[in-house]
Amino acid sequence: MSKIIAGNFKSNLTRTKIQEYYQILDSKIMPNDEVFLFPPFFALQQSQKFQIGAQNAYPANNGAFTGEITLEALKDLNINTLLIGHSERRTLLGENQEFCAQKFNFFKTQDFSIFYCIGENLEVRQKGFEMTKKFLAAQLQGIDTNYPNLILAYEPIWAIGTGKSASLEEIEEVHAFLKTLCPAKILYGGSVQKNNLTEILKLPNVDGALIGSASLDIYNFIDMITLARELS
Ligand code: 13P
Repeated sequence: MSKIIAGNFKSNLTRTKIQEYYQILDSKIMPNDEVFLFPPFFALQQSQKFQIGAQNAYPANNGAFTGEITLEALKDLNINTLLIGHSERRTLLGENQEFCAQKFNFFKTQDFSIFYCIGENLEVRQKGFEMTKKFLAAQLQGIDTNYPNLILAYEPIWAIGTGKSASLEEIEEVHAFLKTLCPAKILYGGSVQKNNLTEILKLPNVDGALIGSASLDIYNFIDMITLARELS
């Protein structure tokens, strides 16, 4: 089975650059690759060979939610994949667990594919594995872990954008624990790069990777897709 390779552009790149990116990716992707991209809103569109998802959406059909994008707009763009619970939204934008669960439940009723992110900060991690497990389980509160279109992403905050991924042992330990709570596929994210991707993807409980900075360069991202392909 192919491992999932997902790129989260966050608030990077421009519409022009992303259009070029899509074109190059389209020409390089193979039928069995499982590739997802989460660009900023202005680059949301339908794609044939890879999936495009939104980094965020407001749980409503439409309405007075300045700065947000809602279901009606996503449907019009043929987007039915959504990232929920990313640590940057939880910490920088103040999204609490209740709101993440509200979003999850709204988009679940719309049959969206939901990439749901969880991950502990350094302070929690330093309190030990039991605390980490408790913290992660709390981030699943209100989430239907049996939802068939759920993909979980474990992204320890201390590994995001730091250039220092969690160790293979740390990743496997958490993923094995999460598999006891949730039958979904689980991606790892946090400083995944070309030089650590293969060994991370080889871990038994890792079903793919959610890649931030290393996805921004199209040729680097294609190399990562190729590495994942070699494992399938
Ligand atoms: P980096 O790969 O830049 O560490 O980001 C990971 C991430 O947050 C993906 O959602």
